[in-house]
Amino acid sequence: SKPIKNICCIGAGYVGGPTCSIIAYKCPHIQVNVVDLSQERINAWNSPNIPIYEPGLNEIVQKCIGKNLHFTTKVEECIEKADIIFISVNTPTKTYGVGLGRAPDLTYVESAARTISKVAKTSKIIVEKSTVPVKAAESITNMLKSNHQPNVEFQVLSNPEFLAEGTAINDLLKPDRILIGGDNNEKGKWAIGQLSSVYENWVEKSLIITTNTWSSELSKLAANAMLAQRISSVNSISAICEASGADIEHVSRAIGFDTRIGNKFLQASVGFGGSCFQKDINNLIYLCENLNLKEVAEYWHQVLVINDYQKKRFVDKIVKCLFNTLNNKKITLLGFAFKKNTGDTRESAAIQICKYFLDEGALITVLDPKVEYEQMILELSNPQLNLPIEMVKRKVQLCSTDVIEACKGSHALVVCTEWDIFKTYDYKGIYEIMQKPAHIFDGRLILDHEQLISIGFHVEAVGKKLNNQ
Ligand code: NAI
Repeated sequence: SKPIKNICCIGAGYVGGPTCSIIAYKCPHIQVNVVDLSQERINAWNSPNIPIYEPGLNEIVQKCIGKNLHFTTKVEECIEKADIIFISVNTPTKTYGVGLGRAPDLTYVESAARTISKVAKTSKIIVEKSTVPVKAAESITNMLKSNHQPNVEFQVLSNPEFLAEGTAINDLLKPDRILIGGDNNEKGKWAIGQLSSVYENWVEKSLIITTNTWSSELSKLAANAMLAQRISSVNSISAICEASGADIEHVSRAIGFDTRIGNKFLQASVGFGGSCFQKDINNLIYLCENLNLKEVAEYWHQVLVINDYQKKRFVDKIVKCLFNTLNNKKITLLGFAFKKNTGDTRESAAIQICKYFLDEGALITVLDPKVEYEQMILELSNPQLNLPIEMVKRKVQLCSTDVIEACKGSHALVVCTEWDIFKTYDYKGIYEIMQKPAHIFDGRLILDHEQLISIGFHVEAVGKKLNNQ
């Protein structure tokens, strides 16, 4: 075994960027090149405005960039120099053909693998970091065989990423575990050892778990499915609370004391979003269907059904409280990102909520500390939503710098993202400038409901019945 000196990461996105920044930061003896086909994204990484917002990330990038961390579009050159190559490209759900709406689209993984096999003149360890279907490592191995040079060997490892956006830096610095899957033979074990040696620069050896490739690939899908399942489970109980007069926060607290259940990830909400949960559950469902495990597929499908139901329930309640019509009423959305501390809007619950509001004829003003206007419009012009783009631009505004302007004349405030700053607003002042009756719908359970009611608001929150006057 020779020490790893050079790493190339294909894909400079939410995973590739932060992961490699931490590797560079913790391993000054390793040169790390993060490559991407998108010149725009690479330019952004090399500018003072890095392309993703993640607390603590910019500081780490600025410490390492130009020293042992480089962002570039020179894909082939960096592949050739590398001992280890991470594949961190996007794996969206297929929008065409076989497995439409279910199977992950491996177009980008395949193109990365083909480039590697074309240009690599020496043997490499290839690491699938992207979330892929079970047995993808086998497919990648076959793709790599396509036109590789003589005497070049590839060892393919699975090393799924478990970071969560919003807390990525802490997750990467202090991971719960690192999972590495590889072939159960001499060469596979050697490759696992090489990758493990990189992590051992900052992660305790007992936290580095090794397994076979399939178990590793399935573990990532299973972990995300279980996390999403917890949210849907709590949200399903929140529906019972609203109907019965129980309080979901009290129920979550009570069940969370059970050490077998644990108290994390029990927060009721408008439903989960983000680029991963839905996609990965669909990936799991597709796998089950292919393995003829119909009951298992149906079980996981229900997690998605409840998530959509939660958003629909929330909106239905809003429409009902606003006298069954939103036509030409101004509604202020607090948050558009899929969760706090990120600017990421992929699959955000706010998107579907806006869709329902626009179908009802509402005028929407969005307040979000990190989401940009173009990004928001891009999400709302997704053809699946079937909203005419001119109408979206006419009816949806972003107004993130002026809270008063955003709330002036509004009939309702709707909390979609749990940003801390929303707790600090002067709701007394906001109440004065809103239409009456002034409504607040707390889809994240972050506001002080009793205080808001005492100001005069009509308040509704997920998972509880409030004593409105
Ligand atoms: P992303 O879309 O932010 O980044 C992917 C990047 O890969 C893009 O910049 C794209 O231009 C680039 N790319 C695609 N094909 C390429 C090629 N052939 N050569 C060079 N660059 C190429 O995606 P993100 O969020 O980083 O996700 C990547 C993978 O990691 C996905 O499989 C995802 O499921 C997984 N993952 C994502 C997490 C997240 O929090 N976003 C967490 C854990 C896993």
